[in-house]
Amino acid sequence: MQTFLTKSPSRAAEFIRRGGIVAFPTETVYGLGANVFDERAIEKIFAAKRRPNDNPLIAHVGALEQINLLVSGISPHALAFIEAFFPAPLTLVLPKSAKVPLIATANLDTIGVRMPKNELAREFLRECGTPLVAPSANLSGNPSPTTWSAVYEDLNGRIDCILQGETTEIGLESTVVDCTSETPLILRSGAITFEDLREIVPETRIYQVKENEVVRSPGLKHRHYAPRAKVVLVNSKFKIQNSKSKAFIGLNKTEADFDTEKICDSIDDYARSVFDFFRQCDRAGIETIYCEAVEEKGIGLALMDRLKRASEN
Ligand code: TXA
Ligand code: MG
Repeated sequence: MQTFLTKSPSRAAEFIRRGGIVAFPTETVYGLGANVFDERAIEKIFAAKRRPNDNPLIAHVGALEQINLLVSGISPHALAFIEAFFPAPLTLVLPKSAKVPLIATANLDTIGVRMPKNELAREFLRECGTPLVAPSANLSGNPSPTTWSAVYEDLNGRIDCILQGETTEIGLESTVVDCTSETPLILRSGAITFEDLREIVPETRIYQVKENEVVRSPGLKHRHYAPRAKVVLVNSKFKIQNSKSKAFIGLNKTEADFDTEKICDSIDDYARSVFDFFRQCDRAGIETIYCEAVEEKGIGLALMDRLKRASEN
């Protein structure tokens, strides 16, 4: 398959209308989109990404009215979140409408819904005229793509089109909040923070996987966000293992020498840069990547979540 590269949202939308799959930028990471009502196109997403078919997809809307096409109801808490934040890097899990094919949600009776804020994403969604399911546009297990060239690296020849936008602003995937029970539960942390959500619904809690329990968000159990290099999470004074090539990313310069190093000027910058840094290190054949730990508040919670997952592999 030839992958078509374009900066035009209307050209990219033509591929969706013809049943194809298209990578596009959002404010979080690049997504790989297909028409939410087109089962065959959705099958292509799972094949192109080599995604396990028990991992549900998020539906993206270009306008609030489209949410009603996807869900069978919206709880008062969910409505409060929508009013406070949408469009935003926030995904709400709601009861699914029977019209959405089960392949989209991996047979769950719920669906994650998000309205992206990124201008090009919104133009593209408007041109498509339908909600799109879109997981991150990487091969399953790799770091999420924050540039169109990272999408190209993983998926060239496997998808119909890449809509070429800028580097994504946030760089970490959206916050996912389960709104199907009485208390909203954060399944995945992101740029809409625990603190932000608590201001709207104070009962909001962070989901913790308990032993022997069915995982509430299937994606949580899969290998994630990991470069090929070994990731080591460190505090300010750390000992360097004896590896041939090593890299460092963090907020504070250390005394050690690294082959590749990125000192970020803020936690936002760190979050925005980390997945691309992982990819850079893999291309350079780095063996070990040291990542400075940050305080787990605000976006720091989401950043630490991704760093911990990457270091578990
Ligand atoms: O920022 C984002 O969310 C990006 C951009 C493209 O929008 N998308 C993204 O999709 O990160 P993906 O598929 O890589 O991650 C979706 C996560 C997975 O962990 C999945 O298990 C969870 O959301 N999820 C999706 N639908 C769900 C549902 N109905 N119930 C529980 N978890 C769900
Ligand atoms: Mg993903």
